[in-house]
Amino acid sequence: MTLAIGDIILSGRVVLAPMSGVTDHGMRRIARRFGASLVVSEMVASDSFVNGHEETRLRAEGTGINPHVVQLVGRDPFWMSEAARLAEASGAVIIDINMGCPAKKVTGGYAGSALMRDLELALKLVDATVSAVKVPVTVKMRLGWDEATLNAPELARRCEAAGVKLVTIHGRTRCQFYKGTADWTAISAVKRAVKIPVIANGDCSSLETARAMLFRSGADGVMIGRAAMGQPWLVGMIARGLNDHPMILPSLNERRDAAIEHYQSLLSSMGLEVGIRHARKHLAAYSEIRVQEGAAISAVEREKIVTTDNEQEVISLLSKFFAPEERRSLS
Ligand SMILES: Cc1cc2nc3c(=O)[nH]c(=O)nc-3n(C[C@H](O)[C@H](O)[C@H](O)COP(=O)(O)O)c2cc1C
Repeated sequence: MTLAIGDIILSGRVVLAPMSGVTDHGMRRIARRFGASLVVSEMVASDSFVNGHEETRLRAEGTGINPHVVQLVGRDPFWMSEAARLAEASGAVIIDINMGCPAKKVTGGYAGSALMRDLELALKLVDATVSAVKVPVTVKMRLGWDEATLNAPELARRCEAAGVKLVTIHGRTRCQFYKGTADWTAISAVKRAVKIPVIANGDCSSLETARAMLFRSGADGVMIGRAAMGQPWLVGMIARGLNDHPMILPSLNERRDAAIEHYQSLLSSMGLEVGIRHARKHLAAYSEIRVQEGAAISAVEREKIVTTDNEQEVISLLSKFFAPEERRSLS
């Protein structure tokens, strides 16, 4: 089964979530190459994007990624429409609007999930974005601001009427932040409210959870965030699993090469100093997943990989972490 966003037909129905500070260009490119049906950029602040801030531009980078999705965040229709135009001109074929971010820095500026408390403004942003571009516009939201205002079905319905082509629902309220568990059943109210495709999000980490999410929510696809850290290939594996194809884990060599490529892409795009700092969370995650898989990695090596500034040392540690057991025990 596939998923259509406007006239864009995806190869499957499992999407890599936008994650600020995590789903950088390298991670998205790798996830997509390993079969993720769609990958979404980190949120891009609409005003700084238009004003040419280099760090923001980097977040929206999509070279080699097809389809390329840029997620915009903002609270001013003017900046949203300008940013949408710029993203489209820079190669984005889908624009996503963030109405789910719970961070005070974002909601304090009345963007992200704060828009769920002001549907009039939310709709102005949607109208401005939809009318600015030819490409499909999608919206990512939560169930509502809090338990007392679960208005995702109403917001989704109004987005659909305004021309939005897909909605993603994280099955938590803003006030829950990331606490508790995502309520997949509550997403079904959104599915019943609209005809456009609905993606369910929150706590998906395996083929089993993806199936359970689809069953309970009735959604058309799933989005995976945190579980893809340290294993961006997981998204593609689950996509294949949902399409009843074998879920083949890429070989150790393929995973090693991908982790090294990811590391090097951060250094080359962000520069050595910033790139090394940014890479550490990924290096910790790659190591953690290998440890969970049973690789014999010492505490000293795990510490070393997230503290060294030496590129070659990181590469040789990654090579060791992804080496077959028999080779590692010989070294
Ligand atoms: C570190 C981090 C950064 C995030 N940044 C964004 C973001 O930029 N835009 C967005 O819509 N959601 C963002 N999210 C939310 C995720 O997209 C997703 O909705 C959430 O993590 C739940 O999915 P999961 O349980 O699969 O991780 C972020 C989440 C995390 C953990």
